Amino acid sequence: MTDSGSERLSTANLTWSDEGTPFSRQFSDIYFSRENGIRETDYVFLEHNQLAHRLKKLDCESGDFTIGETGFGTGLNFLCAWQLRDQVAPNCYLNFVSVEKYPLAKDDLSKALGFWPELSDYADLLIARYPILTPGWHRIRFLQQRVDLTLFLGDALNGYSNFQGKIDAWFLDGFAPAKNQPMWSPLLFNEINRLSATGASFSTFTAAAQVREGMKKAGFKVERVKGFANKRHMLRGDLIEPSQQLSDYSASAPWFNLPKQTGKTRTAIVIGAGMAGTSAAHSLASRGWQVTLLEQSNKIADGASGNRQGILYCKLSSERSIQSDFYQAGYLYTSQQLPQLLGTDQEKIYWQKCGVLQLAYNSQETERQSRFIVYNPQPETLVYPVSPQQASTIAGVELDEGGLFYPEGAWVTPAALCQAQTAHPNVTVRCGSGIARIERAREIWKLVDRKDNVIAESEVVIIANAHDALRFEQTKFLPFKAIRGQTTEVPGKKQIPLKTVLCGKGYIGPAIDGDHHIGATFNLRCNDNECRPKDHRTNLDEITELAPELAKKLAFEQLDIEKLSGRVGFRCASPDYLPLVGPVPDYAAFMQDYAPLRKDASQKLMIPARYLPGLYITAGHGSKGLTSCPLAGELLAAYISQSVFPVATNLTHALHPGRFIIRDLIRNKR
Ligand SMILES: Cc1cc2nc3c(=O)[nH]c(=O)nc-3n(C[C@H](O)[C@H](O)[C@H](O)COP(=O)(O)OP(=O)(O)OC[C@H]3O[C@@H](n4cnc5c(N)ncnc54)[C@H](O)[C@@H]3O)c2cc1C
Ligand SMILES: C[S@@+](CC[C@H](N)C(=O)[O-])C[C@H]1O[C@@H](n2cnc3c(N)ncnc32)[C@H](O)[C@@H]1O
Repeated sequence: MTDSGSERLSTANLTWSDEGTPFSRQFSDIYFSRENGIRETDYVFLEHNQLAHRLKKLDCESGDFTIGETGFGTGLNFLCAWQLRDQVAPNCYLNFVSVEKYPLAKDDLSKALGFWPELSDYADLLIARYPILTPGWHRIRFLQQRVDLTLFLGDALNGYSNFQGKIDAWFLDGFAPAKNQPMWSPLLFNEINRLSATGASFSTFTAAAQVREGMKKAGFKVERVKGFANKRHMLRGDLIEPSQQLSDYSASAPWFNLPKQTGKTRTAIVIGAGMAGTSAAHSLASRGWQVTLLEQSNKIADGASGNRQGILYCKLSSERSIQSDFYQAGYLYTSQQLPQLLGTDQEKIYWQKCGVLQLAYNSQETERQSRFIVYNPQPETLVYPVSPQQASTIAGVELDEGGLFYPEGAWVTPAALCQAQTAHPNVTVRCGSGIARIERAREIWKLVDRKDNVIAESEVVIIANAHDALRFEQTKFLPFKAIRGQTTEVPGKKQIPLKTVLCGKGYIGPAIDGDHHIGATFNLRCNDNECRPKDHRTNLDEITELAPELAKKLAFEQLDIEKLSGRVGFRCASPDYLPLVGPVPDYAAFMQDYAPLRKDASQKLMIPARYLPGLYITAGHGSKGLTSCPLAGELLAAYISQSVFPVATNLTHALHPGRFIIRDLIRNKR
């Protein structure tokens, strides 16, 4: 597997024809035919994968269909496939997976797609959600349209070799082999074989021998057929020899194998209605699953997700790391979901894309930020450095320090997000349903309440009750810590025009209904549920240090600490500060199967992981639930419905619920 994170991206270097069509300088080739690009896409990719017929068949059963492409380019193939789905099979869910080494800059994308007025409705949606151009996988959802685009920015082989999902039809684009020989490599053909679903097909505009032979080796019966317009030939084919690999994972980590699929009835139960649970419920529900959410409290978002104001932020590290990659992907995913779920203008009271300023509040942070700018440069749409003057202008209050500004950052009322996610017609919420035990009988999980009554049952259960997962026999081995946090509310000073979130040790956001919310303390080994004046003091002191002028304007000195309100919550944290998302390991089986790791961590153990069938978890979201929970929901939905994974395989491993068992066995600690 290659490392997707190490790539640096260059955008497409284009020239334009007089008519306004793009030409690649990198490859000296055209993106699409000037006269009839749409007809060419129809002929080469849609017709020769028999898309209309296959989609129609799925329409009656509301199935889903997955297309994999090499070379996203202007997205023309994507838009044509989407339009066809709308025309012939509106009930079918469309997944489109693609890779692009030289993504078009957004302005170029608009210009190129402007050439096709007949696709403008689709193009407008794509342009609006076109991702910030950072390397790696991006999950872009068009919720109302029931279309997902999962797009890797980087080299095709790096993308597909670090990816899971089953492709029904391949669009092999990516410029002619004569002009782009390295892309059409045997290694890429291997990945195509590994990722092809039973019954997969492919088509491509080229008839080059390299592709014909490569696709034969990839297990396809290849036909050479008439090419488009004046082209003599092109290739198409059907999979006849599915992948011989026992699983999707490399043999070097069989403990991260995919679980077997359960839940033919497409129903699931989620325990816990905080952001982790509601995100998982929403991801499944929007793919046609019926989901019941069981919440112990009398309302949703009553645990850590109950703060009035949470901050959507990410703190990228100066060297790329798995943590940084995950939180960056989660941050971009949530920021794209918020307008879709919470609206844009009128409901501003629940969220605001106000940006987040990470101030260089001490010498260590200043040094960290300087390294970040040099070693991990990012597009300005993601993050850029600001001087104290620029920071003050952005914030609307005078600041002594500069820092890093994240324009997509936002504040959100987490409960509003949970509410919007559960407003889906396929989600039923049952409050007052505390689960004490989970039992298994006849392949079904039974959920038992504190009065010993079985109150729900299902083949598929998702545990999303944060550190309370430790009460269940099945997950009591997980290494969660509860970290107490307290926020402080500073009342009504409407005239303070703080326009962005300020972050340092603590944070303060723009006022909601005139009140500012300051967060948050960190206390391990403390389970006091009540607000403590000394914690209010800590919160106020941190903001005073961060932004003295603001503290003065908000008259912190005159506040009566004893009378301030706030809220206490408990973060559920894991030892490596990443959440646990995925199938629940069968602990005893893991301990038995992988015991040899105690003696020799490098040995090859060809024993696929054993899981508790149909049991999943999303928990351990620490202090960044807004960033991590929605993407974690997508990841769980991919595991459960065995569809397209939203993040690279090495990230799924990094989040795997079995990772601490393996780590401890290797260290001989279990
Ligand atoms: C003070 C504070 C400030 C924070 N600030 C931010 C921030 O600015 N930005 C950010 O991204 N994150 C922030 N976080 C972190 C964020 O709130 C969490 O990561 C997130 O809420 C975790 O969501 P969750 O669903 O895993 O947990 P929770 O929200 O705690 O949800 C768990 C749910 O499970 C229910 N439950 C528990 N046991 C059972 C049971 N046995 N049966 C049924 N239901 C059960 C609980 O009642 C609860 O509703 C903050 C956290 C705290 C404490
Ligand atoms: C003919 S264009 C694709 C047209 C596109 N499918 C569309 O609908 O507009 C080929 C694309 O493949 C991309 N490409 C070429 N080599 C690549 C590689 N190794 N990995 C990923 N993308 C690559 C090019 O940058 C270019 O955007």
